[in-house]
Amino acid sequence: MTGHHGPPVAIVYFSETGTAHSLADRLRKQLLRLHFRAFVLDAEDVGRVTAVLLGGGHDEQRPIVVFICATTGNGEIPRHARKLWKILLRRRLTPESCAGLLFTSFGLGDTAYARFNWAAKKLHKRILQLGGRELCTRGEGDESASGGIEGGYATWEPTLLYSLLDLYPLTNGLVRISDDTLLPPEFEVSILQPSESDVSQSRLLQSRVTPTTRLGNVVANHRITPPTHFQDTRQFKFAADEKHWESQDLVPGATALVYSQNDPAAVSALILSQHWDDIADNLVAVPAAVEKWATTKPLTLRSLLTYHLDLNAVPRATFFETLSYFSEGNEHQREKLKEFADATNDDYIQDRYDYADRPRRSALECLLEFDSVKLPVAYILEVFGLLRPRQFSIAGWSNGEIELLIAVVKYRTVLRRIRHGVCTKYISDLKPGEKFLYEIARPQAKPPPIDKPVVLVGPGTGVAPLRALLIERFKGNSNAPSMLVFGNRSRVADFYYESEWKTMTTAREEVDDNGVLTLSGPTCAIVACFSRDGNSTRYVQQVLKRDDIAKEVGRLLAHEGGYVWVCGSKGKMPRAVRSALEDAIEIATGENGGNAVAEMDKLGRYLEETW
Ligand SMILES: Cc1cc2nc3c(=O)[nH]c(=O)nc-3n(C[C@H](O)[C@H](O)[C@H](O)COP(=O)(O)OP(=O)(O)OC[C@H]3O[C@@H](n4cnc5c(N)ncnc54)[C@H](O)[C@@H]3O)c2cc1C
Ligand SMILES: Cc1cc2nc3c(=O)[nH]c(=O)nc-3n(C[C@H](O)[C@H](O)[C@H](O)COP(=O)(O)O)c2cc1C
Repeated sequence: MTGHHGPPVAIVYFSETGTAHSLADRLRKQLLRLHFRAFVLDAEDVGRVTAVLLGGGHDEQRPIVVFICATTGNGEIPRHARKLWKILLRRRLTPESCAGLLFTSFGLGDTAYARFNWAAKKLHKRILQLGGRELCTRGEGDESASGGIEGGYATWEPTLLYSLLDLYPLTNGLVRISDDTLLPPEFEVSILQPSESDVSQSRLLQSRVTPTTRLGNVVANHRITPPTHFQDTRQFKFAADEKHWESQDLVPGATALVYSQNDPAAVSALILSQHWDDIADNLVAVPAAVEKWATTKPLTLRSLLTYHLDLNAVPRATFFETLSYFSEGNEHQREKLKEFADATNDDYIQDRYDYADRPRRSALECLLEFDSVKLPVAYILEVFGLLRPRQFSIAGWSNGEIELLIAVVKYRTVLRRIRHGVCTKYISDLKPGEKFLYEIARPQAKPPPIDKPVVLVGPGTGVAPLRALLIERFKGNSNAPSMLVFGNRSRVADFYYESEWKTMTTAREEVDDNGVLTLSGPTCAIVACFSRDGNSTRYVQQVLKRDDIAKEVGRLLAHEGGYVWVCGSKGKMPRAVRSALEDAIEIATGENGGNAVAEMDKLGRYLEETW
């Protein structure tokens, strides 16, 4: 039985790397099966979203709103949604602004970050302040939990569905549309005529330049770790577009977003497996919302797959669900796909984890292994997510060139297969003179002022933005003290920027009994530790506990108005560093260090950028 009932349901997603969008579409399908008029809105679509949120009305036609909201940065709202967030924070909005709105939210976050799910919490609270009424309690997913984000979502989704059905039960003979029925895709791709243009790689690249993206010209791509060291780290320099020299974009903490592309051989393998050879170079039509990011001209099936779709992501339950509809002539594979699609049965969730997540099988590999699947082109955007640019902290800039410090991702899985990071592999293959697409993003937080002391903690490539800051302070003849605590595996292999630090500190060098190295100068000290050199002090958090260092750090932060900036990998390091800094302040003041750091946080004096 078909037909609609209840008010429309608008699912508004806030997403940095695509997960929230894919959950929004998963919810849309569940709601369509229950005959609700569900539709997905991108939080960037400010006009439509504000019309729904602030448009008023108490009638049956007023959409119910479900926010699916990820947190990014350090407890921040995803970038595409910041304009909307600013509007929602306007002072002239009142507790009546969202009156009559029924809403709820699901937050995507990670407890590895101190500000767990902050964006969703802030958003939910703000809509309540503006007079919105909760449809049901909000939900949360935690990437570090055993079931990941999907586990949290699978527990919350029934709460939402029951609340909706409580208010709007299925009547007049309506029954849930069975899972065996294929629903239309959110974004349909259709094949047009063959493309007339025979375009080169460089023309295609040029066609992707938009008001925000630019072409960078590679100047240098040096491996700075020895060839025998397992980690390949690159000093990557490129000539930037002039636009960036006239703007205020280049400040410490700014990042370059690098757009990569899939290996043409992988794209060809996909095309062959799906028998798309005859249409691979035909133009394709995509909805306007997709055209916004699929900017390559001409947009053919091949260019869509090469530049815009993520073939390497580890697939989620919905990927297997879509494939299950298109598996032909192999009942075993079809059953398996249905099992992997089941997000409610713990055994199947574990099976999918063992098949896809643990060995980090890519979406493309899964599709090739399930060779009974013949995917219609119309559904490719259901199966592959968007290939997103990766962010790299800008490590310095001069004379029209921007410098990055890039750790090339390469590892061996439990299946003993070698995997490469998509973007860092692409970058590592770029040669001087070649062009690539990039964008500059200004930092969310203001960098520390040049006249204030700074305590910088940046292990590994986390040192990149801190190096940019130190260069600016050095060039600006800052007299305020700067202390950088750096850590890595081995002094010989990966003490990044060692010679530069020596110039900045006049190279007075000391190594203590625990292997901690200090280069000190009149206003700048670089303290470094190396975890695999056999020393007892291995990590940056331990360095911060050394008596004299803790004392100096406590003095700078508690008595000199100093700033802290912690960068690098998420997880234990940022928490342990925070705790060490709290102790240092406590020693200096005799007062509660936790409160002092919380206060610094509020004042923008404690910056954290981890990934
Ligand atoms: C604000 C910000 C600044 C950043 N700055 C820098 C920087 O200056 N330098 C830098 O190098 N990076 C930086 N990054 C990280 C960078 O954006 C990319 O995430 C990283 O380079 C990997 O991208 P990729 O496409 O090569 O890898 P992907 O294809 O995205 O693969 C990465 C994924 O592979 C998996 N993986 C990686 N290693 C292993 C392993 N050993 N075992 C199992 N799985 C593994 C993980 O799931 C990881 O998420 C920054 C990130 C952010 C958000
Ligand atoms: C650079 C970065 C910063 C993050 N910061 C936070 C954070 O401060 N708090 C949090 O709860 N989760 C944080 N996360 C986790 C994301 O919210 C989580 O991975 C989510 O699934 C991403 O959803 P998306 O793909 O829709 O952006 C961060 C993730 C990344 C990669």
